[in-house]
Amino acid sequence: MARFAAPCLVLLALAGCYASSPGSEIDVAVRREIRAHGLTGDPAAGRDLPEIDEPLPQLGLKLFFSKSLGGDRDSACVSCHHPALAGGDALALSIGVGADEPDLLGPGRTHPDGDLTVPRNAPSTFNLAVWETALFWDSRVERLEDGIRTPDSDFGTADAEAGSTLSEAQARFPVTSADEMRGFEFVAGGTNDDVRTALEDRLTDDGRWGAEFEAVFGSPEITYGRIAEAIAAYEDSQSFTDTPWRAYVEGERAAISEEAKRGALLFFRSMEEGGFDCASCHAGDFFTDESFHAVAAPQIGRGKGDGSTGTNDYGRARETADRNDRFSFRTPTLLNVGATGPYFHSGAYANLADVVRHHLDPNRALERFDPASVPMAAGEDFIDNTQEMIDFLDVSGRGIGFFRNPTAYTDIQIAELVAFLESLTDPCVRDRDCLGPWIADPALHDVDGQVLVAIDQDGEPL
Ligand code: HEC
Ligand code: HEC
Repeated sequence: MARFAAPCLVLLALAGCYASSPGSEIDVAVRREIRAHGLTGDPAAGRDLPEIDEPLPQLGLKLFFSKSLGGDRDSACVSCHHPALAGGDALALSIGVGADEPDLLGPGRTHPDGDLTVPRNAPSTFNLAVWETALFWDSRVERLEDGIRTPDSDFGTADAEAGSTLSEAQARFPVTSADEMRGFEFVAGGTNDDVRTALEDRLTDDGRWGAEFEAVFGSPEITYGRIAEAIAAYEDSQSFTDTPWRAYVEGERAAISEEAKRGALLFFRSMEEGGFDCASCHAGDFFTDESFHAVAAPQIGRGKGDGSTGTNDYGRARETADRNDRFSFRTPTLLNVGATGPYFHSGAYANLADVVRHHLDPNRALERFDPASVPMAAGEDFIDNTQEMIDFLDVSGRGIGFFRNPTAYTDIQIAELVAFLESLTDPCVRDRDCLGPWIADPALHDVDGQVLVAIDQDGEPL
């Protein structure tokens, strides 16, 4: 211990110095995992990302917050991806068009007909630029060797209109989805391109957007390609990676608690070494392999039309048409996961401890799961949907290892894992002032009177 007395004296003011001196066993053990997993702490390293105050992301911000891109002018991208809600909507399942109060976001946002909720949980737009290959829970926007495949192109085939980044390709689709933005009357019966053309015309005819596009692109033409490019630049500027965990990886030993360090060991170590091998799927500095696994998440809500009830969601199999992919979903990133709940593709769990317990023993968690615990979940089909999933995973052997071989865990281990997960959250995403530059200011960003100025359920500005 004497060896480390000197640096500790210097750092006496820093909490945790003695506990985490370089020689302390736990730091040595966590460092070993960091090296073994090749982590740098910075998932965005090497990427040339736009800054929010540049002209293109500024135009993107205006479009992202504009209800003019919603068919009935009652839904914008921000309706489900507000920065103050960690780039999501803090709802289990999103509500898009026809909300009782269109500008009320987050908990308390309701729809007169619960059945019209969107069938999946909204992932965060934060750190979107870090995804290499896969967007959406089923990766229906994905990078191929020769381009980007989207719902507009056949499986395995690049979409010539997709643009150059995943963010750009994705931004072409929410406006075409009836329950997210388009509504049920706007260009009814038209193709995705008909919707995009109608929106180009709407913005052009308004007369006020042309100058905005001219300032950025050098000419006033409003094409959906330009709209997508600007929105993508705004999203790509949402880089929130300054986590306590990153500071720890970069050498600041007191950046995370002892509890979180024990959680890190459980997260990274293999089962043989006494860990839970979470990093086998939540791999690398972005904590995802961008691949697909069936963790047997509870299926709540109206689903995607699959299965015997028509309310199930086959996930990746909907894209590949391979039954072996049923109930598999893209591994989510865990960056900022402390703020991005509810969790799973169906938003079934509101807190991280429940998610971790579910992973370690899915069958037991499903037995205990109460769909009534999820506001807005249409619960009646839950039992049938769950049974169908369990039967399929039993027979096919496709469920994750823990599904067939549940592992014992203690409440202390759950708390340690949750402490580790919390350390993956950038404090900026919980700080309204820090997020200010990404939130529309009506004095600056309202081009045509359609900017969405969000309020919460108490009527306070978000
Ligand atoms: C009604 C709510 C709603 C609106 C409005 C909405 N989204 Fe989403 N968004 C979602 C949901 C739900 C998903 C997940 C869907 C899925 O995976 O099947 C999603 C997925 C995404 C993703 C993929 C993120 C990832 O990690 O794969 C991006 C990016 C995104 N939306 C951006 C946008 C943009 C840009 C707009 C506006 C043009 C928009 N969204 C409008 C709810 C919404
Ligand atoms: C076999 C791959 C795999 C392993 C191992 C794994 N996960 Fe996951 N994890 C996933 C997938 C896939 C999802 C999304 C499932 C869904 O939504 O249906 C997920 C979701 C999550 C979520 C919710 C994130 C969100 O935004 O919804 C958390 C938190 C999480 N995992 C933590 C862990 C922890 C902690 C461990 C180790 C105990 C672990 N995972 C092990 C694949 C895995």
